[in-house]
Amino acid sequence: EKGGYDHFMLKEIYEQPHAITDTFRGRLLVNEGIIRMAGIDDHIEKFQNANRIIVVACGTSWHAGLVGEYLFEDLARIPVEVEYASEFRYRNPIITEKDVVIAISQSGETADTLAAIKLAKEKGAFVFGVCNVVGSSIARETHAGAYTHAGPEIGVASTKAFTTQITLLSLIALKLGKANGNLSHGQYHAYLNEMELIPRKVEVLLSMNELVQHVASIYKDVPNCLYLGRGYNFPVALEGALKLKEISYIHAEGYPAAEMKHGPIALIDENMPVIVIATSKGHYEKVVSNIQEIKSRKGKIIAIVTEGDTQVKEIADHVIEIPETDELFTPLLTTIPLQLLSYHIAVMLGKNVDQPRNLAKSVTVE
Ligand code: F6R
Repeated sequence: EKGGYDHFMLKEIYEQPHAITDTFRGRLLVNEGIIRMAGIDDHIEKFQNANRIIVVACGTSWHAGLVGEYLFEDLARIPVEVEYASEFRYRNPIITEKDVVIAISQSGETADTLAAIKLAKEKGAFVFGVCNVVGSSIARETHAGAYTHAGPEIGVASTKAFTTQITLLSLIALKLGKANGNLSHGQYHAYLNEMELIPRKVEVLLSMNELVQHVASIYKDVPNCLYLGRGYNFPVALEGALKLKEISYIHAEGYPAAEMKHGPIALIDENMPVIVIATSKGHYEKVVSNIQEIKSRKGKIIAIVTEGDTQVKEIADHVIEIPETDELFTPLLTTIPLQLLSYHIAVMLGKNVDQPRNLAKSVTVE
């Protein structure tokens, strides 16, 4: 059932090229130059007339929502708020008929997300679901939606659900950006072409498993770990830290790289590994100066860079290269080594990777 893998988590990490392709299927039609999604097409005026998009979700799905914020604002120029479902539902939120709510949930059963949807519907918002489990409560409770089609996710730590959620949000953002005239014809087609190459590039990262395993063996005994990223890769830093916490029980924090100097930098010494995402088009020079600040305090640097990088390579202790792509697609690539890093550390520490203590696959209580 684990298809020859030691754990479901590893199997699901390796399924990602396939899962992303399944998310594309019937939707990303590169030759025709269209993205076909009935759930969006049938309600396109709701999205086009929206004052803003409010994303509600929990945990890893909330991190996918944060990537969605960058995507929707960048590509479609629609203002976005990303809310923890649990906070949103209890604070008398301001919602109107002009709001579109996107609920993101792998299981489709998360109690707080479900309650947030019901509240948004009462207030007249249009609610769109991004779920993985077909026929789940959230899928049924929303006005429209799209499934990620990642296939069953058994490992408690979410992996392929996250990357397919981001894939789906990218498709929607590109579609809306095209529909509202924000994306030029040329740009839109270039993005479609590039997007189709992502599964293959994810495979390239999976082939670096041994390198990541080696890095894991060096840092497996640390008590703390810091993850930094900017822009599209800030949510990836949060997700990387969550993955490490939940399966290895090592304390980890994710931060926007520039926030480091407002507090977390005090933690840095020769024992602190810092994982920094420094892709070539993502405020690169700024991240490089963040990396220099870590280095001068003797922190250990594990950098995720774009292939061909020279600057970061000179400073970092370990470097993992992602294939070149548009900045907006980089989360789909930078996430992969972070998943593998957490996985290997947890395995080396003898933890129960697929069923970490205190966690449940779907949180149906508040
Ligand atoms: C982390 C994880 C959780 C879930 C969260 C929301 O690996 O799996 O943080 O992402 O409980 O679950 P869904 O997406 O099912 O609503």
